[in-house]
Amino acid sequence: MEPAEINISNRKPVDKSEVVVDIDHIAKSFGSKEVLKDINLQLKRGENVVVLGKSGQGKSVTIQCIVGLLTPDSGTVKVFGDDVAQMNDTELKELRTKIGFLFQSGALYDSMTVRENMEFPLTRIKKMTDQQEIDQLVEEVLDGVGLAEAIDKMPSDLSGGMRKRAGLARTLIMKPEIMLYDEPTTGLDPITSREISELILHMQKKYKTSSIIITHDMECAKITADRVVIMDNGKYIAEGTYDELQQSDDDFIRSFFNQTK
Ligand SMILES: Nc1ncnc2c1ncn2[C@@H]1O[C@H](COP(=O)(O)OP(=O)(O)O)[C@@H](O)[C@H]1O
Ligand SMILES: [Mg+2]
Repeated sequence: MEPAEINISNRKPVDKSEVVVDIDHIAKSFGSKEVLKDINLQLKRGENVVVLGKSGQGKSVTIQCIVGLLTPDSGTVKVFGDDVAQMNDTELKELRTKIGFLFQSGALYDSMTVRENMEFPLTRIKKMTDQQEIDQLVEEVLDGVGLAEAIDKMPSDLSGGMRKRAGLARTLIMKPEIMLYDEPTTGLDPITSREISELILHMQKKYKTSSIIITHDMECAKITADRVVIMDNGKYIAEGTYDELQQSDDDFIRSFFNQTK
């Protein structure tokens, strides 16, 4: 049987000029530690932006500001035009249904099969009850990430790469308009890292998502990025395509591209 196409007809056509995430001069300190000094970033619809930066530069803090888990001290973050800091709990909940995360761990429920892990957001968050419809979505999303065969396995029976795929599938089943990937390939071997990077690209095309991808993995950046920004010392210091930045005259910028893994 052919997998059914995901119904995205309720999704607006891709307007690449539309800004879906607008980070405008945000700053954030913890105590006396100034983590974000002046961050500006616009994510456009359908675009993959990769954020590069050394460890502890505030990349994860920036992502938490986008979903309202942290509030910047100054500046604004707008998602789909609305200021996240001004949202009430209901609005924040609504916002988070449109944003998918993929954190480092993948975070599957260990006591549930892969199928049950996929069903969970559909029944708990989307309140879906039609089992046939649920089965169809689960099978389709697992097929999309190459895990059709693992549907009845427990997470403990999966390899690291398969767990990551399953975590991605569980996020994608909610059909988020925006995806936030925080170090999606960290801890994976090079071959699996490449597979996950290719999957991120494939999912962007298939689901028409707009994504921010935080990574140290230059191959991941090369595969997934429409645009790369480099973060250092609380600011974004450079922006361009992968190739543009790789050819930069600046030693610090080039240093990201000369890493040996
Ligand atoms: N909730 C928090 N409370 C206090 N300090 C934090 C909090 N979140 C992050 N930090 C600090 O902010 C800095 C940047 O963290 P993070 O965004 O995780 O860096 P990275 O760029 O590696 O993702 C770190 O020094 C971290 O200890
Ligand atoms: Mg981080």
